[in-house]
Order: sequence, then C-alpha cells, then structure tokens
Amino acid sequence: MSNEFQGKTVLVTGAGSGIGEACAVQLAEAGANVIVADMNEAEAVRVASAIRASNGAAKAFKVDVSDPVAVKAMIDFSVATYGGLHGAVNNAGIGGPLKPLADYEIEEWKHVLDVDLNSVFYCMKYEIPEMLKAGGGAIVNMSSILGTNGFANAPAYVASKHAMVGMTKNAGIEYSAQGIRVNAVGPGFIKTPLIDNSLDAATQEFLVGKHPIGRLGRPEEVANLVLFLLSDKASFITGSYHLVDGAYAAQ
Ligand code: NAI
Repeated sequence: MSNEFQGKTVLVTGAGSGIGEACAVQLAEAGANVIVADMNEAEAVRVASAIRASNGAAKAFKVDVSDPVAVKAMIDFSVATYGGLHGAVNNAGIGGPLKPLADYEIEEWKHVLDVDLNSVFYCMKYEIPEMLKAGGGAIVNMSSILGTNGFANAPAYVASKHAMVGMTKNAGIEYSAQGIRVNAVGPGFIKTPLIDNSLDAATQEFLVGKHPIGRLGRPEEVANLVLFLLSDKASFITGSYHLVDGAYAAQ
C-alpha cells in the first residue's frame, strides 16, 4: 500500500461498478479517504465495505448525479465525513438508447445529457469551492474516446462526452492558477457491466476489432491513468484530455 494520497479525501461517482470501482479501490490502496458515490446504494455499500475490510478508508453515499440538490448533498457529506475535499473522479454515466439521432425522443436525449453531461457541471460547481477552501485539488472527468470520435447510434452519449472535454478545458483555464487541476480521460471500450449488460458477444467482438491492441481495456488500466492525473506527479497537467484506448483513436 503506497501513501501517495494519505490525508486526502477523494470523491468517486459511479464507484459501485466498473471503472469507478477500480478508481475507488486503487485510491484507497494509495491511502485516500474515499467517498464511494453511486445511485445503486447496495453496490456502493459493497465497494466501501470491501475497501474497509482491506484496511482502507471509505464511506458509501447514494446519489443521483443528474440531480443538482443531491450532488450538493454528496459534496457536503464528503466534507463533513473527512473534513475537506481534495480530489474527485466525476465518472458516473450511462450509455443511453442505441439509435440514430432523429429517432431519439426529446426526453431520452435530455435524460442522457442530464446523467452524462449536466451531472459533471453540477459536480464541479460544488467540488471546486470546497477544493479552493482546502488549498487546491485535482479533478478527473470521465469522458471517452467518444469525446473526440463519433459512434453510430449513440448521438446523445457522443455529444455529452465531447462537451465534457470542452467543459474540462474551461475549468482548467479558470482554476489552475488557484491550485485546482482539471483533466478528462478518454477510455477506449472497457470490459465493465456497462458493456456486458448492453452489448451481445458479437458486438463486443466487433468492438475488439476496433482496438489495434486486439482486446478491450480493463477498468484497472483506466484507474492507473486517473490516479496519475490526480497525483502530484501530474502537477503541470491540466485542462487536457488523455486517452487510454489501445490505439482506437489513432486510426
Ligand atoms: P458501469 O455501468 O459499470 O458503472 C457505472 C456506475 O454509475 C454504476 O454503478 C451506476 O449505478 C452508476 N450510475 C449510473 N447512473 C448514475 C446516476 N445518475 N447517479 C449516480 N450513479 C449512477 O460503467 P463503466 O463502464 O464503469 O463506466 C463508467 C464511466 O466510464 C461512464 O461515464 C462511461 O461513460 C465511461 N466510459 C466507459 C467506457 C466503457 O467502455 N466501459 C468507455 C469510455 C468511457
């Protein structure tokens, strides 16, 4: 167990599964106090309990990140529980319905943007003031390779992930001089429940073929990059977008 994040409190949304879970576990292993936030309370409790069973520090929190009031309550809980907020991984997200743009119902479109994009605005809106109070901090927003590339039948997701990269750049510009670094991560397709529950085996094979490395990614491989970006080793890296994608976007 390293102590790179000792004394730091880091919030991870969508930490009850997949990439968020891997980030929460690795952060706790590196000494952070972790807030394991998820809409699925049972899964958040499972992850936080597993971390504590391995002598880490973690608390579960049930949140719907598309609700700004709930997001504010999550940040307040983080500060009240561990006395400050130093890092955040704004990771919770959904894929949304798979169909072309004109077939999207208005409410479907709004829902995906609420969960995948507006949530990240709400999180940063309330995280940043607390990080300023704490004397600085670091934020990683979970975009995707679809933050720069299009993908048929996922228009709302692609729009959200692209816009998240823009929002990350702006926050990086606005807050870096005050000690808050903000970056976005662009994973290729990662084998998580998001993929396993929504895509059949043939589609997953098709996706493997789009990654020159010849396989999908693992949640831990994304978490490795997230921890680096949150750490002091990344002290000059801010306002930027970082791929972890097996060369998907290189083509
Ligand atoms: P996942 O489905 O395994 O985990 C997502 C977690 O977010 C779940 O625990 C779910 O309960 C939670 N969540 C969903 N909506 C929520 C809400 N409104 N409020 C709070 N929690 C909510 O998904 P995965 O694959 O770990 O994805 C995590 C992030 O990574 C997402 O933002 C996704 O778009 C992004 N990503 C995933 C890729 C993949 O191939 N798996 C590729 C690139 C980006």
